[in-house]
Amino acid sequence: MEKLIESIDRNRIPAHVAIIMDGNGRWAKSRGLDRSEGHVEGVNTVRRITEIASEIGVGCLTLYAFSTENWNRPQAEVDALMHLIGIAIERETPDLIRNNVRLRMIGDFGRMPEDARKRLQGCFDATSHCTGLVLNLALSYSGRWDIVEAARLLAADAAKGTIAPDDIDGNLLASRLSTASLPQQDPDLLIRTGGDLRVSNFLLWEIAYSEIEVTDKYWPDFSKEDFLQAILNYQKRERRFGKTSEQIAADGTNK
Ligand code: IPE
Ligand code: IPE
Ligand code: MG
Repeated sequence: MEKLIESIDRNRIPAHVAIIMDGNGRWAKSRGLDRSEGHVEGVNTVRRITEIASEIGVGCLTLYAFSTENWNRPQAEVDALMHLIGIAIERETPDLIRNNVRLRMIGDFGRMPEDARKRLQGCFDATSHCTGLVLNLALSYSGRWDIVEAARLLAADAAKGTIAPDDIDGNLLASRLSTASLPQQDPDLLIRTGGDLRVSNFLLWEIAYSEIEVTDKYWPDFSKEDFLQAILNYQKRERRFGKTSEQIAADGTNK
């Protein structure tokens, strides 16, 4: 672990890492446990990865914890997850404060159960002064939901006359997405655990040029070392943003 940390280039730490935390259910099933046990174990991974991300100086860590589509799971699993999210947030708040981590969220807050909303709000308030890592939970979130909300906001502004339809460009649309107020909107690195090669409606706008790392490991098994390895792999990539390799070498924009 120490060796891995040392081999990381401190000048090229991704400012925003986003993770699709997948595989809790399969992890539990492979051990003959209930799916909910996988979610409980997954919370421990959240704690580990938050710690290491904060330690190496990642600015923002966005974790996909519950998608819009996850509301369609069996009610008992949805209830268990919502309960777990509330409990875990409250329990971890003192450690977040100690580590100077600020909790935020993206997603449909109003659709969350009242109890989870209260605990989340408590943690947002208690960590609002923290200036280190921003831990951003995607809850009742989907990329399409967010883009639709942004379209609605823009349409309302246009109807009021505060903007003209012609004013709408990529920057203006991005400014209405729920990710607009994060330290950096677009993730440099997107990690998916659990091995599936899809984005499952996550940050559709923002991942336009994110580097992608997929690991077969289930989320409960994902270690600090795995996270550091993903960062190392990221640092070996050449980000071209549509340009040629020669252009990137000349203007030094690969970061
Ligand atoms: C990810 O694990 C957590 C959530 C989607 C809430 P899953 O519950 O999707 O686990 P698998 O993919 O079924 O193994
Ligand atoms: C993606 O996992 C959503 C979260 C990790 C919260 P899913 O398990 O819901 O994704 P699919 O259904 O396999 O695409
Ligand atoms: Mg899954």
